[in-house]
Amino acid sequence: MDKISKEATRKIRVGVLYGGRSSEHEVSLRSATNVIQNLDRSRFDIVPIGIDKQGAWFLGDDVAKLDQAAVLQLEQDANKMLFAPDCIGKQPAIRQASDMLSHLKNSERLFDVIFPVIHGPLCEDGTVQGLLELAEVPYVGCGVLASAVGMDKDVAKRLIIQAGLDVPDYVVIKRGQWDKAAAEFCAHVDATFSYPVFVKPANTGSSVGVHKVKQPHDLAAAIQNAFLYDTKVLVEQGIDAIEIEVSVLESLDYGADPIVSIPGEIRPQNGHEFYSYDSKYTDEDGAAIIIPADLSADLQQKIKTAVKRIFATLECEGMARVDLFLERGTHRIYFNEINSIPGFTQISMYPKLMMASGMSYTNLLTHLIELAINRHTRKSELSREYVAE
Ligand SMILES: Nc1ncnc2c1ncn2[C@@H]1O[C@H](COP(=O)(O)OP(=O)(O)OP(=O)(O)O)[C@@H](O)[C@H]1O
Ligand SMILES: [Mg+2]
Repeated sequence: MDKISKEATRKIRVGVLYGGRSSEHEVSLRSATNVIQNLDRSRFDIVPIGIDKQGAWFLGDDVAKLDQAAVLQLEQDANKMLFAPDCIGKQPAIRQASDMLSHLKNSERLFDVIFPVIHGPLCEDGTVQGLLELAEVPYVGCGVLASAVGMDKDVAKRLIIQAGLDVPDYVVIKRGQWDKAAAEFCAHVDATFSYPVFVKPANTGSSVGVHKVKQPHDLAAAIQNAFLYDTKVLVEQGIDAIEIEVSVLESLDYGADPIVSIPGEIRPQNGHEFYSYDSKYTDEDGAAIIIPADLSADLQQKIKTAVKRIFATLECEGMARVDLFLERGTHRIYFNEINSIPGFTQISMYPKLMMASGMSYTNLLTHLIELAINRHTRKSELSREYVAE
């Protein structure tokens, strides 16, 4: 067979990137298992790539084994190590980093496209996306900008406010300011907000470091705890609301409106006052997922319009899960946050909502991979040099 026809018949090799250096490492392992099980094997070959909690990248080759495991275990075999970011700048690491890039760039590449199924800081926040941009590898989901902006709850909100949508009132404090003037800041919050308020690190996920504060007395301790996870913390007005999540998928028709799922509701239960880390992961009955959310047609339409606006405002590409608060009584819609790499576990909202809206899991994954390849083609056609007119 000549090279061209060989290329034409070869399956697309999808590197599924999982694990990662965040508190959502274990969630990622479950998500990746599910993605691997649902990818269309008639079109794709799968190359699992695990990132351990120290940030080292390992190449897995035993997909069948990964299929069986309820929770993937990273096999840390030194021979299969691709990349150790903490070594950059040191002699051996230059070799490792360049090894990985040559793996990525080689014409007989290990993979044609990367599907990052990793969540949280150092994964979903543009860092991995930047590395893949440098290596010129197509990857699924948002680019560097939307990934970084979406991870920062303060910057994302500023853009959403500018787009004319509602966000809960909030203030931001940086670690240095807190160290100098904690008491003044708490007094400012007491004077400006009514309790409960929510305290949260600007860049985390899974509700790590998020606190519902019901009285002034508890505010300082909550902020102190949130500073464990980030150097920037938000204090937000608590909204008495139902929590709505919506899945968004970019259209394959470039420039057309994205596909928006029906809305789902998350209802914390079993004694959990909000959608906390425990209600998400520790307690199996910690939250009910209601699909579709019980909303009037009018409200559904308003939500859809807002969600499209949010996706465009934050420069999202590929996919995103948009989380909203729908205030009880007023039915006012508030933007809470966006997840550029939403959970893909068996019970995750993003794929569930897409399926409830008529798209199969397998087709969803194929669609995302096609989007990644199309974007890469478009970008690689751009001129990097000045073109004289
Ligand atoms: N302003 C608010 N009013 C009411 N509830 C809130 C508010 N902010 C946060 N919450 C509650 O806290 C939960 C976690 O907050 P948030 O979504 O901001 O954090 P997260 O760590 O980013 O979660 P994710 O895993 O979705 O990224 C929300 O799902 C909601 O239950
Ligand atoms: Mg959230």
